[in-house]
Amino acid sequence: MAHRVGIIGGDGIGPEVTAEALKVVRAAGVDLDTTDYDLGGRRYLATGDVLPDPVLDELRGYDAILLGAVGTPEVPPGVLERGLLLKMRFALDLYVNLRPFKAGPNRHNDGVDFLVVRENTEGTYAGEGGFLRHGTPNEVATQGSVNTRLGVERCIRYAFDLARSRAAKHLTLVHKTNVLTFAGDLWQRAFDEVAAEYADIATAYNHVDAACIYMVQDPGRYDVVVTDNLFGDILTDLGGAVAGGIGRAASANLNPARTGPSLFEPVHGSAPDIAGTGRADPRAAVISAAMMCDFLGEADASARMLNAVDKTDDVEGTTSQIGDAIAAAC
Ligand code: IPM
Ligand code: MN
Repeated sequence: MAHRVGIIGGDGIGPEVTAEALKVVRAAGVDLDTTDYDLGGRRYLATGDVLPDPVLDELRGYDAILLGAVGTPEVPPGVLERGLLLKMRFALDLYVNLRPFKAGPNRHNDGVDFLVVRENTEGTYAGEGGFLRHGTPNEVATQGSVNTRLGVERCIRYAFDLARSRAAKHLTLVHKTNVLTFAGDLWQRAFDEVAAEYADIATAYNHVDAACIYMVQDPGRYDVVVTDNLFGDILTDLGGAVAGGIGRAASANLNPARTGPSLFEPVHGSAPDIAGTGRADPRAAVISAAMMCDFLGEADASARMLNAVDKTDDVEGTTSQIGDAIAAAC
């Protein structure tokens, strides 16, 4: 049976890389029934709509959502981030943002093979806070970090299960427990308590600042990393850089409880400066689509897609030439 997938190509290079990802999925023999959604900066500028509730409700009915990138320079910061991306993460309870970092075989980054499990619905992203005396000399702005035991624990459990599926069986908690003594304490206690149930998994803890050094100088020490929303946002840009560039950085916004669809998107943005030039690397979108296939139960096809990305690692060319090469290697 075909998997029903909602497609949000979005803005800039988003539609271009999404088209290549779909080309590769089909070449791998996965049957998709896709529906396109016009969402993102273009639609917002034309109609004022970001993510109308009826559209969100329709999206709930799919098996998965594949997103390219959203954002155009004319849209003020925050509108699409909060109104579209974060709204979907929260409303669809996509509580794990899984980001794999593995250097391609032809890149000089030996030893980079780790995954970051980023909590995706809480922390400073939750939107707690506000202004007092806005615009006055006595202005106050607060932006709190929301950490629930339930939210933290389910993310940590996902990370332990993931570590169990890997050869290295190693999980590192990254936080800033020496300064964030409330949130950090909750994370550390939840981590330690869950760890007691996973005696076969070796664990470590790093402060986030130190983790930035290790990720650059000794990335081989990491297998699975679990961390909060904001630390995970920052650390995964660094992960992309050490794994050979943002062109391969993929992500899966997962609802592991499967109470609705999960959403798959490359980490890179809409890159309006190169949109339409054929210079966008579709690999991050292809790897994201491979993660989607795996989550939909198509493990063999997913493995073939990832293998094809590795085999064609040295192929240069236009967006569609790279897509063709990957598709042919599936
Ligand atoms: C990411 C992005 C988003 C985030 C933005 C666009 C809201 O940077 O997916 O990493 O901060 O999570
Ligand atoms: Mn980011």
